[in-house]
Amino acid sequence: MTKPLSKADYSPTGVTVHHDPARLTRVVRALRAAGRNIALVPTMGALHAGHRKLIREAQVMQNTVVVVSVFVNPLQFGPNEDLARYPRALESDVDICREERVGIVFAPSVEDMYPFGTNVSISPGALGNELEGATRPGHFDGVLTVVAKLFNIVGPTYAVFGEKDYQQLTLVHRMARELNFPLDVVGVPTVREHDGLALSSRNRFLSAEERQTAVGLSAALVAGAHVSAQGPEAVLKTARDTLAAVPGIDLDYLELRAPDLGPAPEKGDARLLVAARVGTTRLIDNAAVLLGDGDD
Ligand code: PAF
Repeated sequence: MTKPLSKADYSPTGVTVHHDPARLTRVVRALRAAGRNIALVPTMGALHAGHRKLIREAQVMQNTVVVVSVFVNPLQFGPNEDLARYPRALESDVDICREERVGIVFAPSVEDMYPFGTNVSISPGALGNELEGATRPGHFDGVLTVVAKLFNIVGPTYAVFGEKDYQQLTLVHRMARELNFPLDVVGVPTVREHDGLALSSRNRFLSAEERQTAVGLSAALVAGAHVSAQGPEAVLKTARDTLAAVPGIDLDYLELRAPDLGPAPEKGDARLLVAARVGTTRLIDNAAVLLGDGDD
């Protein structure tokens, strides 16, 4: 039998912060029993306008309680990556969630999230070793493992992810489908600054000069997409030339792929993806392109 919810469990007029997974599971179970849908927005915090857009997308669904998870997941960081310096700002994250009329913030500690260790994980398959995975071995095992745990803890009807992390979105879609998670994965277009820079929690690490340099990534995507009617080689050459013209961009990869991240077609829908280091900050971006004349 479902225990009735107290004010400390959930308040229809404000945001409630939960840390304990078992308690949150009990709360969302009661909310579902009362006929509410649960929409999950998984984040690592340091929320910005891109996250606000994910939250607003989650709110579009009827009769929904939005749960925003804020958890910097150590499993998805490699030994030489920026786990220690990743921004943590729970207080202002909760303020943003309050402004956005989020129902619940789930902010577990590492111990709350992994009380039994991390022996079991989800393998993303071959795509997990490509693109981001080639530079960040094990990254997507860590992402999919924590996302699967969040799905099990929260039991959402919808889970909302940004297209900025396009490979992540693709792999989460794949996991949900192949492992029969009973939910819809919703992708939301990237939010950009006025000059095209994709919003990212890591942008705060950029100096003013690096911030200018970083615009080169989105500029390359736009330049590539601009010549997409000429086919894949033209797209890649134009984007590569645009990146090469900006000093300070240390390119990791620039690749054209199919929308499901299989090999790029000669014609039709494709995705152009880029990753580069600017100073000490690694940035990623991507854009949809329509190759050839789009007729099959
Ligand atoms: O995109 C992110 O912020 C993270 O990879 C996610 C999905 C919250 C998992 O830790």
